[in-house]
Amino acid sequence: MREITGAVIESSGMPVTIEALQLDDPGPGEVLIRMASAGVCHSDLHVRDGDWVRQGPVVMGHEGAGVVEAVGVGVDGDLVGRAVALNWLAPCLRCRECQRGRQWLCQDSPAYRHAGLDGTPRVSRPDGSPVLSYLSIGTMSTAQVVPATAAVPMPDGVPPEVAALIGCGVSTGVGAVVKTAEVRPGDTVAVIGLGGVGLSCVMGAVLAGARRIVGVDVSRAKLDLAASLGATHSVHADPDRPDATVEAIRAATGGGPDFAFEAIGSPATISQAVASLPPGGTAVLVGLTKFGQRASFEAFPFVDGGRRIIGSNYGSAVAAIDFPRYAEAYLAGRLPIDRLIDRRLRLDELEDAFDRLRAGAAARQVIVF
Ligand code: APR
Ligand code: ZN
Repeated sequence: MREITGAVIESSGMPVTIEALQLDDPGPGEVLIRMASAGVCHSDLHVRDGDWVRQGPVVMGHEGAGVVEAVGVGVDGDLVGRAVALNWLAPCLRCRECQRGRQWLCQDSPAYRHAGLDGTPRVSRPDGSPVLSYLSIGTMSTAQVVPATAAVPMPDGVPPEVAALIGCGVSTGVGAVVKTAEVRPGDTVAVIGLGGVGLSCVMGAVLAGARRIVGVDVSRAKLDLAASLGATHSVHADPDRPDATVEAIRAATGGGPDFAFEAIGSPATISQAVASLPPGGTAVLVGLTKFGQRASFEAFPFVDGGRRIIGSNYGSAVAAIDFPRYAEAYLAGRLPIDRLIDRRLRLDELEDAFDRLRAGAAARQVIVF
């Protein structure tokens, strides 16, 4: 048992409180992580703002990195002292999807219970009442106990902030391009929404050798950042004129992109992604919407033109394989992940970070412990 400090929300839609908490020792199959860095992702904001209803109280955060400080029974002791990135979908390794190598679809991950491997919380308040840990890794705290399958060792030389981003935004965006969509050299790509996830799609498109990469956002600063990462064209979106955005995407790609990535999670921009496609084009839905939302598209040209829509969860990541690959690409200078970070903050500045994210004013903000 040890004292930690964590960012807690009582339930979805409530503001964050910074609290002194108790953390259990790691149980069988678990590891204790001293957190070094945690990214602030729009999915945290969905929970904070009540777009997604989640049980509380819960320690926030699902993008993080740290150092293994202790291991539970059955976990290799060599892990102690290793720098790791945290996987927010710790695979059970037993379900049908894990067995067939599609861990991003694991149906029995402890992450869905927001607790330890045995389904009970590892964190409590000083009065002994239990506190959940978001997706079993609750990274917005000074330390956490997580399933060992959530802790992925990093190669030497990877800064903790970079490792944290590999844990969600980078894997989600880069993986959507190189793993889910399998973009090939010479393909054309549009990316709608240039937050941490969309900018990672742009980096993935560069890595894949895309010929044209069209960045689309309402923020000119985001368009400039995307251009500096390798986007070849910019479309300044006006939400009041969705048809003009679609026309601009089509013009920039000579008739429509082979792949249109939607990295916002709004019905309007999902429809724009589909409407921008040429015959044979694919819309890749990466952004997560509020619960219950629907998007629409005109059916006849969709079928007649052999178009496709695919959903991409976690960039089809197999963390143990893909996290180190993205880290090596960063070290080799081919995935400039650090360029996404536009603010470093303390844990107690989290509400301010949410305000900036809500306003669309942030690329990636990271908490440094
Ligand atoms: N047209 C174009 N761009 C838009 C529009 C619009 N109508 N509305 C918002 N944007 C831009 C914002 O300006 C911002 O740059 O979309 C971007 C969204 O970025 P973030 O809020 O930083 O979100 P991010 O963390 O990248 O996550 C994106 O992926 O995993 C999911 O839950 C996550 O749904 C979220 C999405
Ligand atoms: Zn995330």
